[in-house]
Amino acid sequence: MSIFASISQAPADPILGLVSRFKADPAKKKVNLSVGAYRTEEGKPWILPSVAEAEKMVVNDTTQDKEYQPIDGKPEYKRPVQELIFNGDIIDSGCIATVQALSGTGSLQCIAQFLKFMGVTKVWCPNPTWGNHPKIFQRALLECDTYPYWHQEKRGLDFDGMMAGIEKMKEGECILLHAVAHNPTGVDPTPDQWQKIVAACKARKLIPLLDNAYQGYASGELAKDGYSQQLFTQSGMEFFIAQSFAKNFGLYGERIGYIHVRCASKDAADAVLSQMKIIVRQAYSSPPQHGAAIVNKVLTTPALKEMWLKELTFMSNRIIDMRVALRKAIEAKGTPGTWNHVTDQIGMFTFTGLSKDQVMRMVEEFHIYMTGDGRISMAGLNPGNVEYVADSIDKAVRGNDPNPLGVPE
Ligand code: LMR
Repeated sequence: MSIFASISQAPADPILGLVSRFKADPAKKKVNLSVGAYRTEEGKPWILPSVAEAEKMVVNDTTQDKEYQPIDGKPEYKRPVQELIFNGDIIDSGCIATVQALSGTGSLQCIAQFLKFMGVTKVWCPNPTWGNHPKIFQRALLECDTYPYWHQEKRGLDFDGMMAGIEKMKEGECILLHAVAHNPTGVDPTPDQWQKIVAACKARKLIPLLDNAYQGYASGELAKDGYSQQLFTQSGMEFFIAQSFAKNFGLYGERIGYIHVRCASKDAADAVLSQMKIIVRQAYSSPPQHGAAIVNKVLTTPALKEMWLKELTFMSNRIIDMRVALRKAIEAKGTPGTWNHVTDQIGMFTFTGLSKDQVMRMVEEFHIYMTGDGRISMAGLNPGNVEYVADSIDKAVRGNDPNPLGVPE
């Protein structure tokens, strides 16, 4: 009898499990719209040319060794990544505790443990949110609840519901916000709505945690996509940021990101940093250096930084083009329902509004892999498959009835 006899088989991950299923699917015609990872027009992963160039420089740098990195990452690497979010004055003030971490998820994991350590009991996530969010907080023994975010009928932001939700939160509770390009809905507050959200968080003395996984992906511009982070900084509040470089540098497998904690004083930031280092040391000792070295090389080599900024615009533009192409193809078929949300939404994902059964059909019958909540990764679309995807959505929506809503032909 195994000591593991009582351990049951866990279900596959709702996102990464689909990638494995897609790979194993022998169907000739198949499309992977599951994971949020950039693909070229040919449907291939893309190593950004700026990243490839920086990597060569890193590998050929004879001063580099394979020693342990400092627990919080190399100190000289911090400023360039802080500058993607904060202005020079606030960085100079020393009020930001910055720690290199294992991309977005690794950053969130450490922040969750830190929240528990500082006595926070509850984290509020938008409904819906990225599936891993509640799991991360619950594993850190934090209570996790939701506030309204998505308005199904409007296929947009339920701003009134969200504000009413914030009103119910108590002082010292944590509110998780997606800094830009909300995952899975692709719906963000407007600048005016962000101002109201920041003011409400401040009035209720909440602890904001901004998940920043897509900066540069929504508009192609870092500053524009950094708007919510700027507002929180200007508000004078203390808050957390989990900064991922998976998507905007295409460094998915290198696990590179940073935690930033904006504190009221340098003393507070120093104390936070010292405690965050203990969490890192006990979890994985110190961070990997390769991804961090690449990011640093791109950000500190002016020609490479310029290349990278253009590549960001290029990627976000390709996704915008695919939004237009998909909407056009669906509308051309007269598929029941409205499809303006495909072009209204931003960032990497479209929240299609397809039901669970319709999603099941997309996957099982048409071999189009997408998450159960109806989310598709727009980066997986290209001129070669957009028509097939539109046609499959049309068939899934109509079901067996060619005119399910009874719309006059
Ligand atoms: C996604 O939402 O598809 C990405 O953030 C990848 C992941 O780890 O789930």
